[in-house]
Amino acid sequence: MVLDDKNGCSMSKILVTGGAGYIGTHTLISLHEAGYEFIVYDNLCNSSQEALKRVEKIIGEDIEFIKGDTRDKKTLQKLFQNHDIGSVIHFAGLKAVGESVQKPLEYYDNNINGTLVLLEVMKEYNCKKILFSSSATVYGDPHATPITEDFPLNTTNPYGRTKLFIEEILRDLYVSDDEFEIVILRYFNPVGAHESGMIGEDPNGIPNNLMPFISQVAVGKREYLSIFGGDYDTHDGTGVRDYIHVVDLALAHVKALDYINSRAFNIQHSTFNIGTGEGYSVLDIVKAYKKASQKEIPYKIVKRRAGDIAKCFANPNLAKEILGWKATKTIEQMCLDSWRWQSDNPNGYKK
Ligand code: NAD
Ligand code: UD1
Repeated sequence: MVLDDKNGCSMSKILVTGGAGYIGTHTLISLHEAGYEFIVYDNLCNSSQEALKRVEKIIGEDIEFIKGDTRDKKTLQKLFQNHDIGSVIHFAGLKAVGESVQKPLEYYDNNINGTLVLLEVMKEYNCKKILFSSSATVYGDPHATPITEDFPLNTTNPYGRTKLFIEEILRDLYVSDDEFEIVILRYFNPVGAHESGMIGEDPNGIPNNLMPFISQVAVGKREYLSIFGGDYDTHDGTGVRDYIHVVDLALAHVKALDYINSRAFNIQHSTFNIGTGEGYSVLDIVKAYKKASQKEIPYKIVKRRAGDIAKCFANPNLAKEILGWKATKTIEQMCLDSWRWQSDNPNGYKK
């Protein structure tokens, strides 16, 4: 594979932490298509090797996978010793907001300590390019929409705080060593699945997020959707979000890597909103999913969920201007692909 012009030096690989997860697996396909080589590092605490096997089928190549935890310094050191790692895409982390309120220490340990150990090892082995998965949750309840990257940061739960703290850690790291090239991607609401229907989101237990919940209603696993609040100040009273197709999101990582490896990289422009710029309500999504699946989606409007906000959607212009990235997939495609994955795999990756 040709890597000289992309990865900075020939033969060097991208370390993808959390690469067996939902966004990671989709990103592996985009990396492969773009000619990047990678190694996956994941402790499989929220994923399975079956997902990686499916990616292997899609790309027609074996994947180099090392099972390990980001907090395990020795294993990471060994990995960096044995491979020429040119850059890191850091997906690994725990991500359930509600669970983070119940288990804050686990979240701080996993997400923050995991990142600290990873950064220490990267520095030790002189690997100084990193892409970090942040979240729109760092904007808290925004004073206006669309949200630009310079909006004030503020978050209301331990999960969100881990993202915010890690962003600050990365900024401090750059101040201490300006050879670090850091890109922070703030994802809005990733949904959908690869068009093959072979990989997708596979939540444990009852889904917290809207799209996987609707999918399970459509496939008959759940009786109805509870819509959290019908009295928000939005076009139909239900919450509005910026849903982004996971394949568009995966492509944003390729564009961000191209950017980090290019001479155009500028730390002043290194934090990007990754969204579509469009806001859809819960009822809009129910309608689109019903059309895509040709299934009824029974719902009940119930009281608001604690911590939810009325409206959240991105201004994604900076990513377009600097990374040359723009989301292209419609809400209809998001629902169709999500439905294909759900109906082909009613039990996710479990047989
Ligand atoms: P995911 O849970 O599917 O993937 C995360 C992966 O990281 C899993 O495979 C898990 O096993 C692994 N992991 C967790 N802790 C680890 C550790 N200490 N060491 C090694 N591996 C570990 O989640 P995802 O949806 O693919 O999210 C990827 C990243 O994007 C996360 O950092 C998440 O916080 C962030 N993010 C996700 C969303 C979303 O809605 N999915 C939105 C914004 C940001
Ligand atoms: C949630 C997280 C956020 C994270 C994001 C990633 C919370 C409070 N926030 O955001 O930190 O970055 O996921 O995707 O969990 N809804 C229902 N019924 C349901 C589920 C959701 O009505 O069963 C509504 C919600 O009230 C919201 C919309 O659907 O209006 C989207 O919810 P969800 O998918 O959970 O995402 P966010 O709350 O935006």
